[in-house]
Amino acid sequence: MADKEGLKVPKNYHVDIPFANQGSFHVKGANNLEWGMKKHLSNIFCPKSGNTVMFAFDHGYFMGSTAGLERLDIIVPKLMPHVDVLMGTRGALRTCISPDCGKSIALRTSSGSSMMNDDLSHEIVAVDIEDAIRMNADCMAVQTFIGADGQLTSIDNLSKTINAGLRYSVPTMGVVAVGKDMERTSRFFKLATRIVAEMGAHIIKTYYCEDFEEIVAACPVPIVVAGGKKLPEEEALTLAYKSIAGGARGLDMGRNIFQSNHPVEMAQAIAKIVHEGFTDREAWQFFQDAINK
Ligand code: 5RP
Repeated sequence: MADKEGLKVPKNYHVDIPFANQGSFHVKGANNLEWGMKKHLSNIFCPKSGNTVMFAFDHGYFMGSTAGLERLDIIVPKLMPHVDVLMGTRGALRTCISPDCGKSIALRTSSGSSMMNDDLSHEIVAVDIEDAIRMNADCMAVQTFIGADGQLTSIDNLSKTINAGLRYSVPTMGVVAVGKDMERTSRFFKLATRIVAEMGAHIIKTYYCEDFEEIVAACPVPIVVAGGKKLPEEEALTLAYKSIAGGARGLDMGRNIFQSNHPVEMAQAIAKIVHEGFTDREAWQFFQDAINK
């Protein structure tokens, strides 16, 4: 095992050179996977744009009733027509979402924290592969804390999920989580994103930060960007635009959609950026026109 002393600083990410082992499949790093995995990944990432709009409403797994998600049975069906993937818990999906929704499912499978905890980094694999298959999940989402006390448990949860998913052709999405003492810098996200990808995750969810293009270039699987805390809509659209322009293959937004006063129009504006190449300014204009109709 390489030691930590005398490490040279990586610096040449060849951000101008496309991923070399893309082959004929539209999802980065999946060219060598088998049919079932590719089918699930095609349900998530649009073959035409290569991108995805995930609507995240899994916050209740540790936040309980979250502002904007007080009634999952109302807000999620309202937004479904405007997003590609529903990211939720099995409890939310089974109770509030009709199985004929026709949407791809990113199933939250790790759990173990609550807002009562100071350190959220100790989770478990709460949903087994059998239930992920019953739910027809297109991927299993596992929180992965790098650098936090729960790092070993996180990587163990991720690895067990990937191992089970490979047995049954269900992809895993590694959710890069920022522990309470972590720094939201490119140095941290480069480390965390690459570790999660090297563990075998098929999709990485992380946050936008400076040098994002280098993080994308160094990651051999697609990155989806989480929205994070609620921003003014114009800023959130700029975040979405910079993420896609920086090489992300999608957004996984929750609070910036369901806490907006105009969640439907916000989801539509994000989809314009993700699938139709809108700039943030064009998407902001679309959003304003839509809410003023
Ligand atoms: C919550 C999550 C969310 O899926 C993720 O953070 C995206 O939601 P938001 O855009 O609100 O951050 O992992 O635990």
